[in-house]
Amino acid sequence: MVSLDGQTLIPSLSLDLPDGRTSEIYIGSGYLGDPRLSAAIALNTRVAAISNERVASLYGDIVDRLAPNHETILIGDGEQYKSLETYSEVIDQLIEHRFNRDGAIIALGGGVVGDLAGFVAATYQRGVRLVQIPTTLLAQVDSAIGGKTAVNHSTGKNLIGAFYQPETVLIDTDVLSSLPDHVFIEGLAEVIKYGVIYDAAFFEWLEDNTQSVLAREPEALQFIVRRSCEIKAEVVASDEREQNQRAILNFGHTVAHALEAETQYGELRHGQAVSIGMVMESDLACRENLCDTQTAQRIRNIVEAYRLPHTAPEVDVARLLDSMAMDKKVVEGELRFVLPRAIGSVVVTGGFDQENLEATLNT
Ligand code: GLY
Repeated sequence: MVSLDGQTLIPSLSLDLPDGRTSEIYIGSGYLGDPRLSAAIALNTRVAAISNERVASLYGDIVDRLAPNHETILIGDGEQYKSLETYSEVIDQLIEHRFNRDGAIIALGGGVVGDLAGFVAATYQRGVRLVQIPTTLLAQVDSAIGGKTAVNHSTGKNLIGAFYQPETVLIDTDVLSSLPDHVFIEGLAEVIKYGVIYDAAFFEWLEDNTQSVLAREPEALQFIVRRSCEIKAEVVASDEREQNQRAILNFGHTVAHALEAETQYGELRHGQAVSIGMVMESDLACRENLCDTQTAQRIRNIVEAYRLPHTAPEVDVARLLDSMAMDKKVVEGELRFVLPRAIGSVVVTGGFDQENLEATLNT
């Protein structure tokens, strides 16, 4: 865990890539409010902080401490702002501020801010330093780690983006106490995902500790955030650019991304779409005889226990299938799914029966 020992802040985890690049991940509670932070995380450069109005009003003081003379660029709050239009407006402001290549961008916010600011950092003057300060559970356990940056296109989620690692990720679980329930709960979909794809014991712990997690008990939060980050860092370190193993992080996401695009990024939050996606993709795994019905039932039960949705809103199945054809896991025209074999083990497969998929989508 993080300790401010004099002026030294020790990273909790490192995401070490084979070519020597490293992303340092700090996980703790309360340390972002510590006045010694700027000495511990020395940025020593010009800084532009990208955030939204709500988050900046709650946590802007963290950036004030890290970089007292920074510029702040605010974007709208909501998935619809993860767009090329917003990207272009942010770039205009960086140019207006005469921001140079030796500057650093701080992304202060949830997944929308982090993905968009990351894409700005990846592309502005061919790349500037990036620090992620995720303020939602979903961003802390998933989107701020691993270097996927993107904006959406009207026909598909995250269709325009780049792999670009943050040099530092600052995770403070204290910020989770200010989240509205539905925003906290949607992040739990990604936490559950890690249990299904990688760690049966973690899944069991989540089954047994629903109350402590939903009550946001500090120790439970520290544990789920840390274990999720460890799993994500291990998977990404083995396959940064998703040539094979990293695809397992997309369990539930093939259906989720299509649902989000078909509902115009308005009706469902990302974590809600992922929880529906996990239940539907488990149903498909059963129809394909890849897993037994008890496994699919456990996934549905845990989703319900954490008050996440498990049924899709009314959408046209043909349009959903069309949207899936643009999924980034499509290889040589073949749509692939990440399907559970058992809790803790998944397979990436394109060899499924189209009738089974349609039956799943029609349930
Ligand atoms: N959220 C999936 C990934 O980072 O690969």
